[in-house]
Amino acid sequence: MSVTLMDILPAYDSDSKEIVKMIKREFAYSKITEKKFLEKLESKSKRVFKAVEDKKIIGFVELRKLDFQTARISGFTIAPKFRGKGFGKKMLEFAIDFLRKKKIKRVTLLVRQDNEKAKKLYTKMGFGFMGLWKNKIGGHVAEEWELNLHSNGEETPNYVQ
Ligand SMILES: CC(C)(COP(=O)(O)OP(=O)(O)OC[C@H]1O[C@@H](n2cnc3c(N)ncnc32)[C@H](O)[C@@H]1OP(=O)(O)O)[C@@H](O)C(=O)NCCC(=O)NCCS
Repeated sequence: MSVTLMDILPAYDSDSKEIVKMIKREFAYSKITEKKFLEKLESKSKRVFKAVEDKKIIGFVELRKLDFQTARISGFTIAPKFRGKGFGKKMLEFAIDFLRKKKIKRVTLLVRQDNEKAKKLYTKMGFGFMGLWKNKIGGHVAEEWELNLHSNGEETPNYVQ
């Protein structure tokens, strides 16, 4: 399903309370605080975007540059009430487009092995499974997924037949 109403905008300091609440709700193991979140917003290697619907923040995506051509999607959620309406897909498309314009060639992310919903979305967006992550996340087995962004704009997972 496609959505047209949601806006995607850079997160500001004034959004930190709302977004930190969302992070704590979705990722209970996170040790995030508002202070740490504000530091993220200041960091040159990190970008946080918020999804806004009807003037309310309904999700966010956090991006982190790992090296000159690699970035990680290090946080991504849509609030429960708004799921299954295409917002997550739109947010991810935005993030990938943003990174491509920044000349990023490789986008990685970590996802819990049992998060079938997210993995289905990542597969749809062209990400491929790379391997198990070396550490557990919040006590759960995690996987690393990756998307190659080719210069001609074509997106393929790493290993396809
Ligand atoms: C993962 C998440 C961001 C997806 O957001 P969303 O807005 O619900 O996703 P969309 O509505 O754009 O759906 C996109 C695709 O995701 C998959 N998907 C979404 N909901 C699903 C469900 N209930 N069951 C299976 N697949 C589902 C489908 O492939 C769907 O595409 P389709 O509708 O064309 O079949 C959201 O579920 C979420 O915030 N989850 C909790 C936090 C999280 O897991 N973040 C990712 C951490 S790595």
